[in-house]
Amino acid sequence: MTILAIESSCDETSAAVLVNGNICSNVVAAQLIHEQYGGVVPELASRAHQQHIVPVVERALADAKVPKSALNAIAFTRGPGLLGSLLVGTSFAKAMALGLNIPLIEVNHMQAHVLAHFIDDQSGNWSPPKLPFLCLTVSGGHTQLVLVKSPLDMEIIGQTQDDAVGEAFDKSAKLLNLPYPGGPLIDKYARQGNPLAFPFPMAEMPGLDFSFSGIKTAIMYFLRDNLKTNPNFIDENLADICASIQHTLVQMLLGKLKRAARETRVRDIAIAGGVSANSGLRTALQTLGDEQGWRVFIPRFEYCTDNAAMIAMAAKFKYDQGDFTSQAVSPMPRMAF
Ligand code: KG4
Ligand code: ZN
Repeated sequence: MTILAIESSCDETSAAVLVNGNICSNVVAAQLIHEQYGGVVPELASRAHQQHIVPVVERALADAKVPKSALNAIAFTRGPGLLGSLLVGTSFAKAMALGLNIPLIEVNHMQAHVLAHFIDDQSGNWSPPKLPFLCLTVSGGHTQLVLVKSPLDMEIIGQTQDDAVGEAFDKSAKLLNLPYPGGPLIDKYARQGNPLAFPFPMAEMPGLDFSFSGIKTAIMYFLRDNLKTNPNFIDENLADICASIQHTLVQMLLGKLKRAARETRVRDIAIAGGVSANSGLRTALQTLGDEQGWRVFIPRFEYCTDNAAMIAMAAKFKYDQGDFTSQAVSPMPRMAF
């Protein structure tokens, strides 16, 4: 069974080929154009997807040594994401499936981040999490605690009520005059800093929900006050500020994850999404997991940020069930589970 998958929900154009359950290629074209604007510009993102999609798909097929005639289905991200970006991938997938006369499979991007844990990483000692497992899905647009009952049956048991944690990383970075996307740069500078140098307040949210908008405001006032007395405050303390911001965000995430594990009594715990590439989160989760007796699942870096391999994996589960999509499908920017 051979599936070509396409991901175009935000600012990465990606294509992957899955053969008999294994990922054989995963090509990702990033869009550097947004850096100069300090965030993703939707119109520029869709134009870049249009430029990248044909060469990215051709590379993915060539890398996997799979001719188009061998494909059994075309999968694509239907949502959530930016409408213009989703339209490029959706239209391309529909046209290709129609041309080859093969089925089309729609995939939910957030479910795919979770299902990246079913990709065999070829390390030899790989095994997927046991069902049911908990997945903390953290990206630029979402922060969700997901109870995964089966690959196609997931329940969101907690989520952010305002900003996503990736947004909190990126907006904090912007306040520190770091370029977009700032999350990876906060991670980089935090490695040399003291995480307890500057305590920032953590929002108290009921139950398993999160809130990250307050910390952004707290950082803004903190910097404003310190810059008044020392105009070089940011330059002189960059590593400590980054380490303190990262520590606060990671503690907020792990506090709720611990509570979710206690309430659901689930011991297989995973993280997914762009922010799961954060080294502070990865280390802290491993430490907490050892302390709590959890089995912890942390994706390989290339499966943390947006990629089509995870779309292909999610599509495999749908293919096995014969869950196909009609040619009348259109993108769904706010697609729910
Ligand atoms: O999943 P993703 O690639 O795209 C969305 O679906 O949103 O996530 C992108 C987010 C951005 O906010 C980016 O800053 C953040 O993931 N991110 C990180 C790191 N790598 C990516 N945040 C903190 N530390 C990192 N190492
Ligand atoms: Zn994503």
